[in-house]
Amino acid sequence: MARRLTFPNEIYSGPGALDHLAEIPGRRVLLVADPFLTTLGIVERAVELLRCAERRVDVYDGVIPDPNRRSCEQAAAVASELEPDLIVALGGGSAIDTAKVLWVKYEHPKLDWQKLTTFFALPPLRQKARLVAIPTTSGTGSEVSYAAMVTNETVELSIKECVLSYDLCPDVVIADPTLTLSVPPNVTAWTGFDVLSHALEASVSRFASDITTGLASRAVRLVVRWLPVAYMDGRNLEARVHLQQASMIAGMAMASAALGVMHSIAHALGTTFHYHHGLACAFAMTQTVAFNSQVAAGNYAELARTALGIDVAEPLLACHRLVEMLDDLKCQVNIPLSLQAAGVDAQRFERARGQLVHLSSLDANRPSNPRDYTDKTLERLLAGIGSGVISWD
Ligand SMILES: NC(=O)c1ccc[n+]([C@@H]2O[C@H](COP(=O)([O-])OP(=O)(O)OC[C@H]3O[C@@H](n4cnc5c(N)ncnc54)[C@H](O)[C@@H]3O)[C@@H](O)[C@H]2O)c1
Ligand SMILES: [Zn+2]
Repeated sequence: MARRLTFPNEIYSGPGALDHLAEIPGRRVLLVADPFLTTLGIVERAVELLRCAERRVDVYDGVIPDPNRRSCEQAAAVASELEPDLIVALGGGSAIDTAKVLWVKYEHPKLDWQKLTTFFALPPLRQKARLVAIPTTSGTGSEVSYAAMVTNETVELSIKECVLSYDLCPDVVIADPTLTLSVPPNVTAWTGFDVLSHALEASVSRFASDITTGLASRAVRLVVRWLPVAYMDGRNLEARVHLQQASMIAGMAMASAALGVMHSIAHALGTTFHYHHGLACAFAMTQTVAFNSQVAAGNYAELARTALGIDVAEPLLACHRLVEMLDDLKCQVNIPLSLQAAGVDAQRFERARGQLVHLSSLDANRPSNPRDYTDKTLERLLAGIGSGVISWD
């Protein structure tokens, strides 16, 4: 089946890239920012750059982690009032996704959530504004993707939904690694595992191609090499440069090849236990790689060889080695190997199991997973994620 690959038109990357903000055209700018970046002075720097170019600049910094329908609607109401012709998203995935949904709702105020969350059903954007994305974490790849993740908190079991449209791909990305120097070690580790999760899933997706597997391989190589460095020394610019690039190229692979059961389970763990998205992906990672190995051992083996130099003849053995390396990396950045090890109460987990299976089974990433599965499979995978015992069948 033919697949469309869509990437942002302009990407400015490298230390000092933020300065380019001053040159982007737009007379009325709405800066959508993570509130923590205001306390770090990063919002002020961005505003100063924008103001030099003599235009009106307003800031909305009411972004919340893991945005939901309500928080996006609140942000969109601000846009409707201010009528920007340039929207600048500054922050991690939560800020960029908030800005994307705000953008859609601002351009098409009458669009309801049903239509918003129907894949590739949005009317065209850019009638009123363009979008610039400035990532300050290295993880989601939202700056290069045409997706926005929004929690639907209006239903009994909150569920993570995806707004998907090629038009949602930002016009301009400003990837300045100096903005990520302040990311604390835990968020550095979790977001790094989000990058890995995108690369691993894009490598074995039903929609994988030479383009996406090439991107994914490089991303895995960079994360395994540089994540422990950035975790130990957040001010190491070289490590931050490579992790930011890894995040973008894994994001491109993800956007083009889609994801799978690792993310389906991670989304359920995220909404149920309120884990950071990358940490939830790390919890779901090894079990789902082992599960998919039954049908995708060749793809994982190639990834293991090209990215990590794991050169063994037997593909399943390569998968075992890959999983060992992933667990080793978790240990280096203090990510527990199971929910039990993370201190999740066994009874609480048991009570949530049905809900986790239900939410995972509804997740939008299901069709691209290389191996079909049932609710029973999900139960088995979740049991392993709870205990840390990996099952290879
Ligand atoms: N749209 C996509 O393609 C896509 C892909 C993957 C994940 N996501 C979504 O993105 C969200 C997660 O984004 P995230 O992982 O970037 O986390 P985040 O945006 O929620 O930020 C995590 C934390 O890091 C802090 N932070 C951000 N930048 C910082 C900096 N420079 N210095 C210090 N602290 C900083 C924030 O204040 C926050 O406390 C989730 O909702 C997830 O579902 C979207
Ligand atoms: Zn992810």
